[in-house]
Amino acid sequence: MEGLDGLAQDCESRKGQACSLKELEELRIEFLGRKGKLAKAMTELGALDNADKPAGGKKANEVKQRITELMDQMEAELTAAETGRVLSRFDPTMPGRKPWAGSLHPVTLVMQEITSVLAGLGFEYVAGPEVENDWHNFEALNIPPEHPARDMQDTLYVSDKIVLRTHTSGMQVRSMLKKQPPIAVIAPGKVYRRDSDLTHTPMFHQIEGLLVDRNVSMGDLRGTLTVFVRQIFGAGTNVRFRPSFFPFTEPSAEVDISCVMCGGKGHQKDGSPCRVCKGTGWVEILGCGMVDPNVFKCVGYDPEQYTGFAFGLGIERVAMLKYGIGDLRMFFENDVRFLEQFA
Ligand code: DAH
Repeated sequence: MEGLDGLAQDCESRKGQACSLKELEELRIEFLGRKGKLAKAMTELGALDNADKPAGGKKANEVKQRITELMDQMEAELTAAETGRVLSRFDPTMPGRKPWAGSLHPVTLVMQEITSVLAGLGFEYVAGPEVENDWHNFEALNIPPEHPARDMQDTLYVSDKIVLRTHTSGMQVRSMLKKQPPIAVIAPGKVYRRDSDLTHTPMFHQIEGLLVDRNVSMGDLRGTLTVFVRQIFGAGTNVRFRPSFFPFTEPSAEVDISCVMCGGKGHQKDGSPCRVCKGTGWVEILGCGMVDPNVFKCVGYDPEQYTGFAFGLGIERVAMLKYGIGDLRMFFENDVRFLEQFA
């Protein structure tokens, strides 16, 4: 009986000894384990007189309860201390980690912007195949078999009469075959050419525009394109038309805009020539013209009743001018440090 009392005191005196939950567990085994001190004291109870046994059993239970209480108390203290240690390492004033956000590719951004500006002017979005036949890509656009544009140097042939479209202009033909005038469509998409150097890639993006109705004039073309480039490049942007040639338009023009870099002055602040426009104050941005009557004949439109204009522009080129990107290869390398700047 005395041994039992001593056990409780022993345990109490060693309260401060366990400094961790692991040490506490060792202490618990020492006292309460199957071969521990309490178990040993209880086997010794067997030697008591029968009359003393109930009192001995009662005492043993009290001691067990007391030791268990002590252990639970120690556990609570140690757990609280451990939590305090963890929390003291936690700095709630530290800035959090920003989640990584994806960004649209600059080509996609410009494509969407151009499409929405032209949609605002009443043009309808159309899409068509990148694997195109000779007739839509060339023949119906007034580009006969011997035309230099068909040269193997430029065109990627799938077979004799099937090509990867070299421009989006074939969508003019597809759209006009589907619908009678008035028609106003835009067709953005990928185009392919056998070309690869610093300023050319075998695949790039274009947007084609086409508008056909009665009494459409070159003035309408100029007005539409002026509004368009001012929305894309800013209200101060000027346009100029230079005579050019495309087989599917007559007359044809190339359109320049006042240089986005130097504002059309042709030189930088220090007087040196502007690198973007090479000192001219103008940069070329698209090809356009009045739809050639031969194209109308191919799609069954009456050239005596209808006139129309068409234009085509390269998306990468617009993106380079708009964002001041100097190297075409940036668009295709997909370097995250480049792409994330458009987030
Ligand atoms: N298809 C021409 C090209 O790829 C661009 C073009 C020029 C499109 C004049 C047109 C146009 O619609 O009228 O270079």
